[in-house]
Amino acid sequence: MSKMPKLTHTPHVLVGVTGCIAAYKAAEVVRLLQKADCKVRVMMSAGGEKFIAPATFSGLTRYPVLDDLFGFPTTEIPHIDSAEWADLQLIVPCTANVVAKIANGLADDALTSTVLAATGPVAIAPAMNVYMWENPATQHNMKALQSRGFTIINPASGRLACGDVGAGKLADVQTIADAALQLLHTSDELNGVKILITAGPTHEAIDPVRYIANASSGKMGYALAQEAERRGAQVTLISGPVSLPAPYGVTVISVTSAQEMYEAAMKEWKDADVALCTAAVADFSPKHPADHKLKKGIDAPDTIELTENKDILASLAATKDDRIVVGFAAETTDLLEHAEEKLNRKHASLIVANDVSRGDSTFGSDTDRVSLIYPSHIEQLDTLPKTEVACHILDAVENLRAQN
Ligand code: CTP
Repeated sequence: MSKMPKLTHTPHVLVGVTGCIAAYKAAEVVRLLQKADCKVRVMMSAGGEKFIAPATFSGLTRYPVLDDLFGFPTTEIPHIDSAEWADLQLIVPCTANVVAKIANGLADDALTSTVLAATGPVAIAPAMNVYMWENPATQHNMKALQSRGFTIINPASGRLACGDVGAGKLADVQTIADAALQLLHTSDELNGVKILITAGPTHEAIDPVRYIANASSGKMGYALAQEAERRGAQVTLISGPVSLPAPYGVTVISVTSAQEMYEAAMKEWKDADVALCTAAVADFSPKHPADHKLKKGIDAPDTIELTENKDILASLAATKDDRIVVGFAAETTDLLEHAEEKLNRKHASLIVANDVSRGDSTFGSDTDRVSLIYPSHIEQLDTLPKTEVACHILDAVENLRAQN
């Protein structure tokens, strides 16, 4: 498949739905792509239509579903015109049978004919029973597709609809949408730039089952990772314990404690260009974590002695030279004063200040109302989805890099 040139129009995504119990999830993928400003059309196999009605997709996309090569209402040669229209074809879910057909160039219905006529990238999100997935025939077909440049959004492992446990579960819908967006080449402003991001909380062990933590969801760091990846950056996300799917195309290093996050960050920083420290790192950790579960009335202490953790942001900024280090300040009082103080004390290039006492900006919310605190001035943003806040922050990073 040819590499997509940078798009200058609203991205067009042609979603193909095949016959699998997970077909209903394609509706959610369509919505996520629309929310990300893509124009979406849908094609379906006969099997797909056994699981979810075409009316769902024609309603969502306001366009007829392509499921028949003969008698399609808008054009005489629907598979060719649809393939030309699509900047990306995304087959979700893709059954073992359709994997086999497209791996072998079969074109016996509207969907497979359109895939064969593709002029741009094709991504597939397979979903099937674990034994069908692991079957050498399927794996051989997957390798064939991969070697021909198809993007495979690998299935997850878990309990499958048939009751078996293993790989074959359709990937998370957000992961699929992110993968599609990443393939739609809309920007290359950060091409080749290596970005290190810390995200989420850290857990500081008291004993093997208890820890000190905070309510950080990690959403801001994950949104930044995905947007940076879309802009062409090479992103390493050092993440504390969160329940978010790994952003597509991003290297994730999972850590638990502040010390582990510090060590991973310092290692990655050696050849990184930008650091975005969104993590809510615990400031302190128990000095002597117990190696066994503490029992009340037996050996549970009345007090826990704490030791201060290393400041990752300050340590990165201390060796930044002309690189960009962005910090975050989540405050409940005197937001701007505290944020300015952090900017100066930690020598960051920029602090993103967030009043977490507000209803639209709390830990875990999908929106934020932030101010960007530069050494010279302050920029106040409206309440925005975290994905849009991520765009503003990366715009700011691009501007800072241009000034250096
Ligand atoms: N940070 C860090 N390492 C730490 C503590 C904080 O990298 N050990 C980073 C956070 O990722 C964030 C910024 O520092 O970007 C601000 O974090 P915060 O915990 O609010 O700063 P503190 O210096 O701990 O200030 P205070 O506790 O007084 O709010």
